[in-house]
Amino acid sequence: MKLIFLGPPGAGKGTLAAKAVDLVKVPHISTGVIFRSAIAAQSPLGRKVKAIIDSGKLVDDDTTIELVKERLSQGDAQKGYILDGFPRTIPQAEALAEFSSADKVLNFDIPDAKVLERLSGRRVCKKCGANYHVLFNKPKKESLCDACGGEVYIREDDKEEAIRKRLEVYRDQTAPLIDFYRKKGLLLDVDARPGTDEVVKNFKQALGL
Ligand code: AP5
Repeated sequence: MKLIFLGPPGAGKGTLAAKAVDLVKVPHISTGVIFRSAIAAQSPLGRKVKAIIDSGKLVDDDTTIELVKERLSQGDAQKGYILDGFPRTIPQAEALAEFSSADKVLNFDIPDAKVLERLSGRRVCKKCGANYHVLFNKPKKESLCDACGGEVYIREDDKEEAIRKRLEVYRDQTAPLIDFYRKKGLLLDVDARPGTDEVVKNFKQALGL
């Protein structure tokens, strides 16, 4: 199954994708995770994108498209994928259609107030990228990842100014993809407001799983 997870920052795309991989048995490919790993490794890509990501703006289309094209050419992605955070612009969606056809696009719908609540309380594992929340999903041991024991931290782009920028960028550049995919008959709306278990239910229902 080839799925695209669409939705504003903080909708819960990464959290749900981590759960959905067990249901649909395909790799979870997050452009945000790939970029953050490159930043942590201080690779040339990481050095190029760090300031852009920290400020809440988008990395340029050419860089991002090339990265995803290469990732989707790898063996594990041949049986399908969950693309989380890509495409994020119309040119990215048009480019993707040239090298892969998604089966469905899940549109995670959530108001800005909830986004602010989720992102301002998010904590992320430095080592494996797992997501936590200070109220809704606390790690069992304070500041340590349940999965790998890594240290959890606050993402630079989860500071209020960067969150507002990301929401503005989402509205201007990503939200038009909702109509783009609806017109193609691929869009499924998922209410992302409830707790994670309920969203997983909504997701399964939308896909008829
Ligand atoms: P990326 O990492 O993709 O960030 P994003 O889309 O802004 O999404 P987030 O990771 O912020 O949110 P999410 O929806 O995954 O929510 P999460 O599950 O973490 O991208 C980062 C940056 O990289 C971009 O700003 C851009 O610069 C660059 N980039 C990436 N892709 C790009 C592209 N295609 N083109 C150009 N640039 C690109 O959940 C959030 C919090 O809420 C967590 O704390 C979680 O525990 C909690 N939570 C989740 N679900 C629930 C729930 N149901 N109930 C209660 N709490 C919940």
